[in-house]
Amino acid sequence: MRVRQLVVGPMQNFSYLLTGAGDTDGIVIDSGWETSPILRAAHEGGVKVRYAVATHHHFDHTASLKELAVATGAKVVAHERSPIDHDTSVADGDVLRLGTGQVRIIYTPGHTVDSVCLFDGENLFTGDTLFIGNCGRTDLPGGSPEDMFRSLHDVILKLPPSTVVYPGHDYGDVPSRTLGEEALSNPTLSAATYREFLKVP
Ligand SMILES: [Fe+2]
Repeated sequence: MRVRQLVVGPMQNFSYLLTGAGDTDGIVIDSGWETSPILRAAHEGGVKVRYAVATHHHFDHTASLKELAVATGAKVVAHERSPIDHDTSVADGDVLRLGTGQVRIIYTPGHTVDSVCLFDGENLFTGDTLFIGNCGRTDLPGGSPEDMFRSLHDVILKLPPSTVVYPGHDYGDVPSRTLGEEALSNPTLSAATYREFLKVP
């Protein structure tokens, strides 16, 4: 799918607008603090936003999702354990379909209990589960280092190495990178054991 990556708000959040090839239906992932960058991108591309998806409930990712839904008619989508107000609950393996594209929900707890990644077959939108060069915090309420290790090693690393990782924050040296490259350079992925993983700063 076509990916537009936008920086929103004061915490280097990434927001994403996805559309299928030759399609006008779109999915927004984590509109974050403000709707104007996404609404502008959607308007410029002639995109009709169908879904506004939260990778997890944290405020910096979801503050404007409802406002975006009202402005576009999109449905707010979140994991079934999400505490935010939403229209459609999703769980691991569920698929959101557009005209010519689709994205699969992959449940990846660890940063929060409602954390999900979205996979369109080529690109993985990881929220605060996986950043370029590190993973998300596990010391906030609902966080779990054991779950994070399992999500990274038993779920995300099973995807093809050519998958492009698109994180929820611009914290890395590049805004996106393939999973194969991250597997070698990101210490939270290259850690061979849970004990090694816990030592990553
Ligand atoms: Fe977060």
